[in-house]
Amino acid sequence: MRYSDDLVERIRTSNDIVDVIGSYVRLTKKGANYFGLCPFHSEKTGSFSVSREKQMYYCFGCHAGGSVITFIMEYENFSYPEALKLLGERVGIELPEGNESEEEKRAASLRAKILEANKAAAVYYYKKLYSEGGKTGLSYFRKRMLSDETIKSFGLGFSGKGGSEVVRYLKSKGFDDRIINEAGLSGFSEKYGMTDRFWNRVMFPIMDINNHVIGFGGRVMGDGEPKYLNSPETRVFDKSRNMYGLNVARRSKKPYRIICEGYMDVISMHQAGFTEAVASLGTAFTSGHASLISRYAKDVRLSYDSDGAGTKAALRAISICRAAGLTPRIIDLKPYKDPDEFIKNLGTEEFAERIEKAENAFFFELRMLEKEFDLNDPAGRTRFQEAMAAKLTAFEDELERNNYIASAAAKYAVDEQALKKAVAVEGAKQEGIRIRSFRGSPDIPGALKASAGEGRGDPPGEEGILRAERYLLTWISDEPEVYQAVKPYLEAGDFTAGVTEKTARLLFAQMEEGKCSPAAIVDSFEEEEEHRKVAEIFNTKLEAVESTEEKNLALTDLVVKIKEESLKRKSADQTGEGALARRISIRNTMDELKKLQIRL
Ligand code: UTP
Ligand code: MN
Repeated sequence: MRYSDDLVERIRTSNDIVDVIGSYVRLTKKGANYFGLCPFHSEKTGSFSVSREKQMYYCFGCHAGGSVITFIMEYENFSYPEALKLLGERVGIELPEGNESEEEKRAASLRAKILEANKAAAVYYYKKLYSEGGKTGLSYFRKRMLSDETIKSFGLGFSGKGGSEVVRYLKSKGFDDRIINEAGLSGFSEKYGMTDRFWNRVMFPIMDINNHVIGFGGRVMGDGEPKYLNSPETRVFDKSRNMYGLNVARRSKKPYRIICEGYMDVISMHQAGFTEAVASLGTAFTSGHASLISRYAKDVRLSYDSDGAGTKAALRAISICRAAGLTPRIIDLKPYKDPDEFIKNLGTEEFAERIEKAENAFFFELRMLEKEFDLNDPAGRTRFQEAMAAKLTAFEDELERNNYIASAAAKYAVDEQALKKAVAVEGAKQEGIRIRSFRGSPDIPGALKASAGEGRGDPPGEEGILRAERYLLTWISDEPEVYQAVKPYLEAGDFTAGVTEKTARLLFAQMEEGKCSPAAIVDSFEEEEEHRKVAEIFNTKLEAVESTEEKNLALTDLVVKIKEESLKRKSADQTGEGALARRISIRNTMDELKKLQIRL
């Protein structure tokens, strides 16, 4: 649901950014701004700045930035409405409720009660673990080397042997049968009626990202079946939209998330300090999980069991990750089976190194593929190379594809040009058409060295102009008289299209009304990525220019640069009748521009 600009404005202006961020980060005043350690990347010197005047924050290290609303979105990993709600509550502004029907209201209250029952059950299991009746469970966790702190932070517990302890407990707390049933906490037997679903198991409460207990996994003591009994899917427990450990992992500052298979793997990794680990919940990894993770990081490291089943699951997960725009890599756990065993045997540092060295998913796939062929036999080798070529066609970007072709050719000692041709043939086969000619494939020697997936920089020149535009916009927001000086020569349309142009347009409009609110400009964009860009635009470091004469020169320089670029674009856009004449006229304007002298 979209809230009115007015309401957003009211919430923003009632939540001073220095106060709000100051409650999360220690800030010290330095000049006009406040500085602290950036909560979005690890650093030892404070490059994180907050401006009371602009009501914006910006990190000169990792370029995180935006308004107070952006901050809450990033820090809490909240959606825009969730961030607004939190900030509204902070200052007593209520957000209008959507028009819910009676039916929707009933369902919402049912869900709330189920969550309450789950919570109560989790507390019961936790207390039980430390009681006389929970000794089996506690000694089990001790054997698995979990600390009390870990047990507490994951809320681990034990379901006793009584058969209907939790059901009785919940009833005594006033939960009725329907809620207990719908929470998936009960079973039924002819003899005893309503019983507990979980008994004599160590309990793993499953939490959603807001720390609500939505279900449980219970591990059998000893060798019984099933090894893990999980809650059924309920009104609050959707296995494909939640992941174990994500309530903690979402806050990790690492640029990647580790995906593993089991509850114990997540817990071991977190206990060892790898709080970026999550697991799917007793089900295969799905596209729902992938899109959930992509909210927090685009880079994932798969830490699946090193056995056959684990490898198969990893191969499936790789495709799912790619389809969701994630870049997967594979952590090698050999000679151990899973992360839990690995860390116990080889320790934290060794595991950190394995994460660091995680293999590119494509080469992992090739290694697995290779096993299906006899590479000592020329025929087998040929078929393997064809299969490799077929896989390479999946890279749609030509530069990326060529990088992979080059690396694969080197790795498997195949002639690069021959492999390239084979990829083209396979590509044509797949499309069911005759071989396309790969037009003008440019030879960029450096590109072959660049590792795949790395962003390629903007063409030279483009960054320079963007920097000039950012410089001018920051300057205007600091000293509004600059706007008056450049106004006769520049308009928003002269700025690079996209976020920069829209920012200029909004800032100029504010200036016309005698206002200046960069934070309001941030909030007029929806995507966090755009918030960052706007924050960057308003946080360019200005050189200390003292004399008016120097200022005039610098300002003239900026305006000429921006205008010239804009005229060049305009000239290039001219087509059709009279294009030549129009281009000549633009050329003349450019010549005029050389004489420009701006005065403050
Ligand atoms: P594993 O069998 O690999 O168990 O199942 P594990 O996590 O290593 O457990 P420990 O170390 O023996 O205690 C991996 C995950 O698959 C799900 C659970 O989520 C488990 O953590 N699973 C497994 C089930 O849901 N049910 C089962 O019966 C077994
Ligand atoms: Mn295990």
